Amino acid sequence: MSALIPRPPMEVAPGAVHVPGWLTDAEQRDLVTACRAWATGPVPIRRTRLPRGGVMSVQTVCVGWHWRPYAYSRTADDVNGRRVADFPDWMVRLGRRALLEAYGDRAQADGYTPDTALINFYDGQARMGMHQDKDERVPAPVVSLSIGDSCVFRVGNTETRTRPYTDIELASGDLFVLGGPSRFAYHGVPKVIEGTGDPATGLRSGRLNITMRVTGLTAADGGG
Ligand code: SIN
Ligand code: MN
Repeated sequence: MSALIPRPPMEVAPGAVHVPGWLTDAEQRDLVTACRAWATGPVPIRRTRLPRGGVMSVQTVCVGWHWRPYAYSRTADDVNGRRVADFPDWMVRLGRRALLEAYGDRAQADGYTPDTALINFYDGQARMGMHQDKDERVPAPVVSLSIGDSCVFRVGNTETRTRPYTDIELASGDLFVLGGPSRFAYHGVPKVIEGTGDPATGLRSGRLNITMRVTGLTAADGGG
């Protein structure tokens, strides 16, 4: 799934790094398989209800810790009350490799231990409004992996959900890291470009995005 036009790694804003085509085809297939299994349980994938009555258009399932607006817990109390699947060691290793690729700092990468992943599935109509990832208690980077249809990914500033922002295209296999001065930048997905994914990933349609994060939570916060 190589691009016709070269897409070199790019620092979109300080600490916000885009690495096109980072995942191999086999890694994408394996991630699709893993996400499909998580989507069936212990907590099934669903559209998250927002406190003011809305429903998110993306479908979400979590591993490690369950996110709901605007907190993490071990059990999915807004879905079926079950404890989410454990965060696998292979995903910690993938997160470390991603950080090394983005920043080239081995000590930082070795010290990175993500403990939650939000897995979002976008059908052609799904979007994500501008928001900050700020329910984590520590400022460790967020590692984002995209598979399937391409999207427009909007990377903004840390102050407002409006301009200045930069729109880039995230395609299947792309890595994006939000860290450093951009860790709390507003970001969103204004558009998914239907029909751009390759069914060889195992995704016939739609877009899959996985964001790994470090919650900073401990057993005392309800976790074992
Ligand atoms: C997110 O902001 O959590 C998801 C971003 C994406 O889908 O690329
Ligand atoms: Mn986010």
